[in-house]
Amino acid sequence: MDILTMNRIKVDSLILVLWACCTLTRCSSDVDVLSPKLTRCTHERAYDMYGAYCGGLRLEKIPNLKSSIEILDFSENRLNELQASTFTNYPNIKFLYLVENQLYRIDENAFAPLIYLQTLDLSNNVILQLPQTMFQLPSLRNLYLKNNPLLHLSINNLQLRKPINAPLELLDLSNCKLEKLPNWGTLPHLVQYNISHNPLITIDAQHFASMCGLKKVDISKSIDKIENVCELKPTIHWFQVNAISMDLDDYARLNSKEFNECPSMTENDLIVLNTTHHTCRSMYSKFHNTFTSRRTWLKVTGGLAGFLVCFMLLLYIMHRYNVAQTKTPAEKIKKVTPKNENDRDAAKPILNDSSDVSRL
Ligand SMILES: *[C@@H]1O[C@H](CO)[C@@H](O)[C@H](O)[C@H]1NC(C)=O
Ligand SMILES: *[C@@H]1O[C@H](CO)[C@@H](O)[C@H](O)[C@H]1NC(C)=O
Repeated sequence: MDILTMNRIKVDSLILVLWACCTLTRCSSDVDVLSPKLTRCTHERAYDMYGAYCGGLRLEKIPNLKSSIEILDFSENRLNELQASTFTNYPNIKFLYLVENQLYRIDENAFAPLIYLQTLDLSNNVILQLPQTMFQLPSLRNLYLKNNPLLHLSINNLQLRKPINAPLELLDLSNCKLEKLPNWGTLPHLVQYNISHNPLITIDAQHFASMCGLKKVDISKSIDKIENVCELKPTIHWFQVNAISMDLDDYARLNSKEFNECPSMTENDLIVLNTTHHTCRSMYSKFHNTFTSRRTWLKVTGGLAGFLVCFMLLLYIMHRYNVAQTKTPAEKIKKVTPKNENDRDAAKPILNDSSDVSRL
């Protein structure tokens, strides 16, 4: 009996302790939630790059950060405009994430100082107007503009200087309420193009012919509003001819009898598309050639410099060797000179003898 009550007390106290622990941890975690862990941006090194991380801090302005940053993550804040001076202190940024702010206005020169910028993510904002200088950034490869529901109001009036200089490889324009695709001109580097979830009313194969490196295009939920299904035929045909993989959630329209009965592309249409494609290819090779020739030039000069250094080093070693060679006999002679008086005298008679001989 005694043992049983003892045990019950033990169990009770154990439960009490457990309950206390639970409530305490719950309390402390509640406190954690109430007071945000981070209120300031942190600086960190990641992927061998120096970055500033300011995600989810509800900031309305970019605070003063280290000017050497290469990554800036300013996602989930309350930024609503980018001014010409916003990034002037951070010229080394390569990756810029401004996802989910309230960006509305972007100054024409806001991105201009970012000549090393490779990835720009402006998803989930309310951007009304894109600066055209953004498309001239010399290193910009990945551009995300998805979920910008106001972008359609201005994007077709974008005054683009063509050809676009930015070597864009990925362009995401999904869910931007676009009815028409903007005319980008030639995009020789573009590989991935996401134009899904846009209520397109028209589509033109020519648009894709000027993207001669295109491998993947997502047009899911974007072709339902195109009234004349036959307008799709040349585009779909072009994708097939060029082995461009197409994402489409619903193939019903393409499997319809109506689509199958559409006239196929004429030889002339194909020639026009081929010409555009070839122009794009030659732009690509021109870019590639200047790039490789610049690299070869660098390699050649580098090699030459290396050779010169090696040659000078060799000359120096030879010089040292020669100096050593001329020194050694003298040292040997010094060593040979007798040390004690007797030895020195021992050499004398012979000398004297020979002098005697010569005298004789
Ligand atoms: C294109 O964008 C949509 C919506 O943003 C996304 O769900 C889809 O995965 C993207 N497609 C590709 C191929 O990345
Ligand atoms: C267009 O280009 C494709 C592939 O480069 C080629 O097979 C086709 O013959 C060309 N057609 C015309 C009409 O030039």
